[in-house]
Amino acid sequence: MCCKVILFYSILLYGIMFEHTVNTFLMKSNFMGKTIIISNRLPVKIAIKEGNYSFQPSEGGLATGLGSIYKNGNSVWLGWPGLFVDNEQQKKGIDKKLAELNLYPVYLTNEEISQYYEGFSNEIIWPVFHYMATYARYENAYWEYYNIVNKKFCDAFLKIYQPGDVVWIHDYHLMLLPKLIRTAQPLASIGFFQHIPFPSFELFRLLPWRSELLEGLLGADLIGFHTYDDARHFLGASSHILSLKSSLNTVLYDDRKVVVESFPMGIDDKKFSGLTNDLEVRRNIEGLKTTYKDLRLILTIDRLDYSKGILQRLQAFDLLLENRHDWREKVSLYMIVVPSRDSVTMYKELRNEIDKLVGNINARHRTNTWTPINYFYRSYPVEMLSALYQFADVCLVTPMRDGMNLVCKEFVASRINNDGVLILSEMAGAAKELIDSIIVNPNNTVEISHAMLTALNMPAEEQQRRMKRMKELVSKYNVHQWVAAFMNRLNEIEKPKQLEVSKYLNFFTGQYIRNRYVRAKKRLILLDYDGTLVNFSIDINAVSPDKELLDILQDLVDDEKNKVVIISGRQHTTMEAWFGKMDLDMVAEHGVWYKPSGGKWQEKNSV
Ligand code: UDP
Ligand code: G6P
Repeated sequence: MCCKVILFYSILLYGIMFEHTVNTFLMKSNFMGKTIIISNRLPVKIAIKEGNYSFQPSEGGLATGLGSIYKNGNSVWLGWPGLFVDNEQQKKGIDKKLAELNLYPVYLTNEEISQYYEGFSNEIIWPVFHYMATYARYENAYWEYYNIVNKKFCDAFLKIYQPGDVVWIHDYHLMLLPKLIRTAQPLASIGFFQHIPFPSFELFRLLPWRSELLEGLLGADLIGFHTYDDARHFLGASSHILSLKSSLNTVLYDDRKVVVESFPMGIDDKKFSGLTNDLEVRRNIEGLKTTYKDLRLILTIDRLDYSKGILQRLQAFDLLLENRHDWREKVSLYMIVVPSRDSVTMYKELRNEIDKLVGNINARHRTNTWTPINYFYRSYPVEMLSALYQFADVCLVTPMRDGMNLVCKEFVASRINNDGVLILSEMAGAAKELIDSIIVNPNNTVEISHAMLTALNMPAEEQQRRMKRMKELVSKYNVHQWVAAFMNRLNEIEKPKQLEVSKYLNFFTGQYIRNRYVRAKKRLILLDYDGTLVNFSIDINAVSPDKELLDILQDLVDDEKNKVVIISGRQHTTMEAWFGKMDLDMVAEHGVWYKPSGGKWQEKNSV
């Protein structure tokens, strides 16, 4: 048995050595594979109207940020198309259309949408990770479905994965997926990026499934966060909960090194600066000029989310109007709230509260010619967003917590004349970079209302100075740089990992080697005899090849892609007696004797 197992691995390992040598040990071939992006949501979502479906861009930073550039490379994207589809015919049509965009759908049932997406992802992970743990509902059924759907994503992934592909998993919906993939494909190169904050240990420990979630993530080779603090929190949780040792930014888990680092996400700044010349954008700006004439405009754009600090921001604006009557009829708040997760109770309630508060503020302050808050509950195409980014005087971004926040970067990139002021919450990941904004505490409504006044009164030169610096930063650390930084780091980690493949063999590496073997066009198979083809034995006669071994060797020799060589310290006469009739090369007596297949034995000096 031992002999057979050893033989199997030896053959496969040596078989791929030829390919490794040619391809500088897999490095090249690895980087030639495709990148498989996996996230819960695809960058487009399906809308079905009267039986016909259409695709629309998805909202949210992950989809807008990565969605604009994933097509540039050799990438495919696996995710949920955002709607329950039960008609198989319709699924086929959708599959086909998505495939044209290199997108692969993972369909979710209504139950999965409710328990895994709305439930576990958005009623447990989202509030806890945004430091609003009291909103969490720890339902066991949610956890069950989270496991089921992560497994579903893994199965869908395995259908399109080929050795050499790089996997890039995104966000909190799929925290178990790195481990699932690692188990199925032990040598896969796996990156994970978290777009939301990673909370401090005191918050994270509240989760009943904290160990499983950490272990799920640790299946990756590289785990990325937007900020250094998030990375630090993750390392802290791994050490407290799993007692894992880490050195600098590397955790040792399951005999593997897992690198944990921060990669602040950028935007496609050229897209936003380029939109300033777009005809439709210019038309939209003209429309805004007509409507808002001499009014100063403060812009806010968010998905409907309690993490965005929308209510506190409204209170701050109310405070400004209460305290500074001189600003009445001179400034308006232009507030876009993009519908999001409205089947989750907390989101429904938040919407009602926003509606009420906006109504209340407008009712108290409005005049016949002026509406203090222009509130829009809908999403807009980028041409309208761009017009607003260019037209507004101030952009107010005050989340209670945010992984990064891309809206503030989009505003900066759109200001071609370097004017305008950004007010930014210190709790947004972007605040670590955009230090030339007016930084506020999102809970401090007094401070926010003061910041609005400061912004409205800021001299042009100061606006220019601050905006210019922020623009340089947004342009330098753009989304292309972000993708390149993450991918380069993953590749760097990959190199030493691949070299280690030859050091040990286990069941999983065996699977990997088998795949490589099958795909190789030419194989050089160098086989040691004692201890490899047969067990070591003191009794020299006990180790002559049996029929089973000879049959396996014959099979190898019969495959024309193979060149088989047996290398041994044994007498060349013994080797000849055992294998002389086979079409293989032999090296005997530690290299003193050599026989090419079909040729004669030659002594070293005469070779
Ligand atoms: N956005 C959009 N349509 C809208 C409003 C916003 O596509 O009507 C986009 C916006 O341009 C930005 C993203 O939604 O790219 C929001 O990302 P952010 O990181 O600010 O917040 P998230 O929604 O990811 O929490
Ligand atoms: C945030 C998350 C994304 C998510 C987006 C929109 O940006 O980081 O993963 O896609 O919000 O939320 P939704 O629940 O509509 O996908």
